[in-house]
Amino acid sequence: MPATPPFDTVEACVFDAYGTLFDVHSAVGKCKTLFPNPDAQADKLSDIWRTRQLQYSWLRAAMGRHDPFWALTGDALDFALDSVFGADTAKPDGLREALMGAYLDLSTYPEVIDTLKTLRAAGLKTAILSNGSPDMLGPVCESTGVGPLMDAVISVEEVGVFKPHPSVYDLVRKHLGVRRTAVTFQSSNAWDAQAASDYGFRVAWINRFGQARERLPGAPDAELQRLDQLPPLLGL
Ligand code: LAC
Repeated sequence: MPATPPFDTVEACVFDAYGTLFDVHSAVGKCKTLFPNPDAQADKLSDIWRTRQLQYSWLRAAMGRHDPFWALTGDALDFALDSVFGADTAKPDGLREALMGAYLDLSTYPEVIDTLKTLRAAGLKTAILSNGSPDMLGPVCESTGVGPLMDAVISVEEVGVFKPHPSVYDLVRKHLGVRRTAVTFQSSNAWDAQAASDYGFRVAWINRFGQARERLPGAPDAELQRLDQLPPLLGL
């Protein structure tokens, strides 16, 4: 079957990590028994944690400041714990440590491994391009089995600024040696998908959560619900 334009120029498939390959909410899911009232607290904490983690990255970039994503992940978790539990004394013992540990042991979404195998069997290059620092990407790539299915695991730490700064997307050419139009970039984060499209990649927005379209520069070439809908676009 032929590839669907503009995906007919693709030689490399590049993936955002958190939310796209790895289920960020699985950290809280694995620690639910540590919450006094999981139904009222767990999802709320997970949402605040993720939202603040991303906001802290954008704000660092706007401030011309940089700290590793692992540090921001801890700061965002502290904010989320304060928001849900209030005073320090109300926080369950060991919850912070358990959640940070679980972030190094996230689950993949169910279709991820088979999709990566399909792409690689077809001779396409594969890579992660993530805000994550190498010390957090390494363990999760190893525990999930995603690492051996990647030609490169690229972290923004190389340029010291977070996505969506264009110098991050430049790292793909450096590592994979392919031009922009030979790259399809997949992200479940709409802002990341829009920015990668504005940069000049082919883009599939993996809209896992049925979100409304963002009003930002760029326009993804495809909107999918899951990653296993990507190979057919590439003629596989
Ligand atoms: C990443 C975040 C943005 O993996 O999900 O880069």
